[in-house]
Amino acid sequence: MERKAAIPGAPGAAALILGIETSCDETACAVLDGSGAIRAEKLASQIADHAPFGGVVPEIAARAHLDILPAMVGAALREAGVSAGNLAAIAATAGPGLIGGLIVGANFAKGMAIATGAPFFAINHLEAHALTARLSGLDVSVPEFPYLLLLVSGGHTALIAVEGVGRYCRLGTTLDDAAGEAFDKVAKLLGLPYPGGPALERLAAEGDAARFALPRPMLGRLGCDFSFSGLKTAVAQRVAATPPGALSRSFAADLAASFQRAVVEAMADRLGRALAMMPGCTAVVVAGGVAANGAIRSALADVAARDGRSLIAPPLRLCTDNAVMVAWAAIERMRAGSPSDPLAAPCRPRWMLNCAA
Ligand code: KG4
Ligand code: ZN
Repeated sequence: MERKAAIPGAPGAAALILGIETSCDETACAVLDGSGAIRAEKLASQIADHAPFGGVVPEIAARAHLDILPAMVGAALREAGVSAGNLAAIAATAGPGLIGGLIVGANFAKGMAIATGAPFFAINHLEAHALTARLSGLDVSVPEFPYLLLLVSGGHTALIAVEGVGRYCRLGTTLDDAAGEAFDKVAKLLGLPYPGGPALERLAAEGDAARFALPRPMLGRLGCDFSFSGLKTAVAQRVAATPPGALSRSFAADLAASFQRAVVEAMADRLGRALAMMPGCTAVVVAGGVAANGAIRSALADVAARDGRSLIAPPLRLCTDNAVMVAWAAIERMRAGSPSDPLAAPCRPRWMLNCAA
C-alpha cells in the first residue's frame, strides 16, 4: 500500500482524469481530458432517500454511495471511451464532508489507483468549488487570480480569497448554521418539503418582505463572518406565537419573504466587507446551491458591480456538488506542479483551506 507521491506534471490534452465526489448526498463521477473538456459526467442525487428525515442522514448517504458508485464509474469510463488502466490520474474528494461518504469515494479511488498504478489525488472539496469557474469551455469569463469565492451551500458558508492554485485565505465563515441549512430549517418551520431552499424562494415570491422585522445577522459587524441561527430562531418564535391553524399561506409567504430579505441584506453586507479586504481582485465567483436563489444572486451582482467587480456564476450543475470540479482540481494541481497524494492520505471531515504561506 505504501506508494510514494509522484509529480505527474501537466497532463496532455489526450490524458484522461477521473474525479469522484461523495462528500455529502450526491454520488458523482466525471472524466475530463487534460485540457479540461468533459468526456463523461454522472451524478445521482440522494434527495429522495433523505427527504423523509428532513435532512441528510450520514449512514444512509454512505450506504447509497457504496451502492451507486461502482456501476456509475464503469458507465462513465465507457462513455469516455477509456479503460481504468489508461487513466492518467484518479481523484476523489477526501474532505471536508461526511466521513462515511468520504471513505467510500476515496477508498474506491485508492483501490483503482493500486490496481492501475495511476497517481491518486485527495481533493479538498472547497478547493474544487474554488477552482470550478476556471474550467475551460464554460460560458463565463475565466476569473484571474486573485478572486473572491463566496461558497453558500447546505454544508458550507465561506468567503475565500483565491490567490492561486493551492493558495487560499478564508476571510469569513459561518459561526453556526450554513446558509442552505438556515433555508432548509426555516422552510421546515413553514411546512415546506426538504430541501427547503427552492420551495422557500418560490413561496417568498408571493410574500411581503416588509411585514416582519427580523434581525439582520452580523450586519455592520467587523470582519466577514456569517451567522444564521439567531435569524432562524426569530422565525421559529414568530411561528410559535401563531395560534395553531393560523399559519395561513399568506402569513407563511410574508415570513419567507422577510427571512429571505434578511439573508440577502446580511450576505450583501458580508460580501462588501470581503471586497474591501481585496482591492486587487476583479471578480467574485459564487458557488453552492444557495447561489441559485435569484434574490441573493441579484443582490450579490449589485454589490460586486457597485464596487467595479464582476460576478461570475458557473452553470448551476457545476456550482452545486459534482465530480467535474474534483477532476478539474486535480488537473489544476498537476498543472501547478503539485505532487499526487500518497495512498495513506486520510479522509478529513474537517479540512480548512489554509492561508497562503
Ligand atoms: O450545493 P448544494 O446543492 O449541496 C449541498 O450543500 O449538499 O446546496 C444545497 C443547499 C440546500 O440547503 C438547499 O436548500 C439550498 O442549497 N438551495 C437554495 C436554493 N436552491 C438550493 N437556497 C435558497 N434558494 C434557492 N433557490
Ligand atoms: Zn459542496
